[in-house]
Amino acid sequence: MRTLNDIRSTFLGYFEKQGHAVVDSSPLVPRNDPTLMFANSGMVQFKNLFTGVETRDYQRATTAQKCVRAGGKHNDLDNVGYTARHHTFFEMLGNFSFGDYFKADAIAFAWELITKDFGIPKDKLYVTVYHTDDEAAEIWKKVAGLSDDRIIRIGTSDNFWMMGPTGPCGPCTEIFYDHGEAFWGGPPGSPEEDGDRFIEIWNIVFMQNEQFEDGSMTPLDMQSIDTGMGIERVAALMQGTNDNYATDLMRNLIEASAHATSTDPDGPGKTHHRVIADHLRSTSFLIADGVMPSKDGRGYVLRRIMRRAMRHAHLLGAQDPLMHRLVPALVQQMGAAYPELGQAQALIEETLRAEETRFRTTLDRGLKLLDDALDDLPADAALPGETAFKLYDTFGFPLDLTQDALREKGRDVDTDGFDQAMAAQKATARAAWSGTGETADAQLWFDIADAHGATDFLGYDTEQAEGQILALVKDGASVQEATAGDEVMVVLNQTPFYAESGGQVGDSGSIKTDTGVLDVTDCKKQADVFIHIAKLRDGTISVGQGAELSVDHQRRSTIRANHSATHLLHEALRNALGEHVAQRGSLNAPDRLRFDFSHNAALTAAELRKVERQVNDFIRQNTTVETRIMTPDDARAIGAQALFGEKYGDEVRVVSMGRADTGKGADGQTYSLELCGGTHVRQTGDIGMFVTLGDSASSAGVRRIEALTGDAALAYLSEQDARLTQVAGQLKAQPADVADRVKALMDERKTLQNEVAQLRKDLAMSGGAAASPAVGDVNGTSFQAQVLQGVTGKDLPSIIDEMKAQMGSGAVLLIAESGGKVAVAAGVTADKTATLSAVDLVKAAVAEMGGKGGGGRPDMAQGGAKDVAGADAAIAAARKVLEA
Ligand code: SER
Repeated sequence: MRTLNDIRSTFLGYFEKQGHAVVDSSPLVPRNDPTLMFANSGMVQFKNLFTGVETRDYQRATTAQKCVRAGGKHNDLDNVGYTARHHTFFEMLGNFSFGDYFKADAIAFAWELITKDFGIPKDKLYVTVYHTDDEAAEIWKKVAGLSDDRIIRIGTSDNFWMMGPTGPCGPCTEIFYDHGEAFWGGPPGSPEEDGDRFIEIWNIVFMQNEQFEDGSMTPLDMQSIDTGMGIERVAALMQGTNDNYATDLMRNLIEASAHATSTDPDGPGKTHHRVIADHLRSTSFLIADGVMPSKDGRGYVLRRIMRRAMRHAHLLGAQDPLMHRLVPALVQQMGAAYPELGQAQALIEETLRAEETRFRTTLDRGLKLLDDALDDLPADAALPGETAFKLYDTFGFPLDLTQDALREKGRDVDTDGFDQAMAAQKATARAAWSGTGETADAQLWFDIADAHGATDFLGYDTEQAEGQILALVKDGASVQEATAGDEVMVVLNQTPFYAESGGQVGDSGSIKTDTGVLDVTDCKKQADVFIHIAKLRDGTISVGQGAELSVDHQRRSTIRANHSATHLLHEALRNALGEHVAQRGSLNAPDRLRFDFSHNAALTAAELRKVERQVNDFIRQNTTVETRIMTPDDARAIGAQALFGEKYGDEVRVVSMGRADTGKGADGQTYSLELCGGTHVRQTGDIGMFVTLGDSASSAGVRRIEALTGDAALAYLSEQDARLTQVAGQLKAQPADVADRVKALMDERKTLQNEVAQLRKDLAMSGGAAASPAVGDVNGTSFQAQVLQGVTGKDLPSIIDEMKAQMGSGAVLLIAESGGKVAVAAGVTADKTATLSAVDLVKAAVAEMGGKGGGGRPDMAQGGAKDVAGADAAIAAARKVLEA
């Protein structure tokens, strides 16, 4: 038997031999399309090669492309499980020519591979061509020798392929396989063409035109080929079935589901197993490509598929969460062809398990409510929209899950009523919203949110994407267009720009359309709408345009490194200082990080070094940074740090990094585990290095650490080093000896200062510095007075003490002048203080020199004056005090 894996490698190998580059599947979330929800065919990643906007170093390529058709324009979700060929996930194999070979080779390759390598009998094959394409019909005749009745001309859009309302397009030729009379159906173009007998297996698009927004279509400069082969269908026919779910790969998944639920794969639960097998593929691949279950956008499509599968698991009687237990079977089937599946296995399992555990808490009650509601209704009546909304809002039943449940009973939902209930709830939420003071503004953003829904954030996985401009706001009002120089706020359906929150600053970068370029300086968020704050550099832009969005990579990288380092710092602080350390605020900017935390004392140098060392240890550990979605309660239960007083929704992102023997997390080995919506490095090693700039007080009981990472840390250390080298040069010492040298200089300075003071004193005592010594006996008291030059007030008390000691009994008055400052001091020996106070002497002297006051004790007083010119008068005034 040719297994599906066999068929895939035969296909890729065949085209590789024909000179095609084997290119990896692009991620399911398209980076290069503004409106597409998921990659839905092989050509999506090559869109710009067909139009010539982009060139690569190959002109021929072959791929096995992951595709999801659920949500958006192509939505097969409702039919999955009930038909033989509907899937939410499938693989499209393709060969592509970008201006290289065209019709003749494309047809010849297809025919050779199908009839020779795959060995599919020629007489089972039919082809279609676009009704005017004589050339293709001729080639088929020549290459395959098909008779005219097997070359069917089709004039409808079925044979003219367009990827969407705009873009490259062209006529096609399709190959059909006839499963034989056992099945009902007719050849393409016949009234019975939708039957199960004639199945399209291969489509070649002759890419030769481009369709524009205004409806015009022009020929492309070059002619190209885009082929799509549905591998599930080819596997089915090669394995003798026309049921995709009976092929080896799907069968293995169905059997895994049957085994895990101890049920018969082909028994009454057959549909459930098919739904589960299909949904296991789409949900696992979506999670591996970075989509996480959420309330809106792609994340909600994922959630819808997950929950739909989970209801079927429940109907099979599974007592415990089922889906995550089937992931190993999927990895075994598809992990070799798609290594991302194995790499993300743990994340896929955990995301599925958490979602199913959570959904099970409301699933039973929701189903009971649904049954009761149906019992109360007349048979055949549609379920009221109110009830479907209650199931959605309170029990987490996506509308299509309710519809799926009703389908088995042949009942419908009043979807208009559902929409009305949803609108009413939004209106209530809006009325209750008190606003941030910018009410007029808020109103505008709510209107935009109502009209367009939440912005899908792609920035966890990419820094570049395409988006569609949904609204432009200029001077507080919505506008349709902006012109060069305008400052505008731009809203798109999706964006890689991070909007400021949780301490992480908003991204900057550029938005380009065909007609203009915007510089984005910041991004903020209101009512789940991402607001790009921008200035139109050039041209014009208008609502409805597709745009290329690119985040400033350098800036985002440093922000990311700083944010991840903040998590490591938080944990290192808890380890060094204790569990009381909790985040009180943070800033993750491109140039630095700031972290405020509860702690009462300044950090010692040793503590700071310990913290810094630990953060760097975990940077070098270079473990992968992982993100999971959980309920806040589950997150706290495994030890995740949450912000005190912060309001969390019913689900949170939990970011973990580092391995530690005594760590946290479900395995008790995770070093840092935090609730966080920010963007982070892939590996801790990407942080590079971490340096603190020291710790300071932020407010009572809150300390602040500022720090640098990566290049900024290195630049800081280099700068410090340059300063040290400069100082060493000035000291004529080696950098290593600088500290000792500075200490020696400081000691020497102290010694010199003491010596200088002593010398001044000696000079004063010897009268050498006196401008006008006055010595004598006044009223029975020996009195000495001097004016000292170059002596400061600081030196006076010790000089006075010494003079008093030498005199034995008497009074001293010193007037010192140094650097324009005049200081006055007086001393009275103890035997005289009963009748004479030094304070009076100082006061009298100071008054003569433009000073005021003076104070001290009777034996020693000091004061200051302005002008030494009055020194003689001052000494005379002091004498007067003695005379009195
Ligand atoms: N783009 C075409 C399709 O999706 C052929 O790959 O069918």
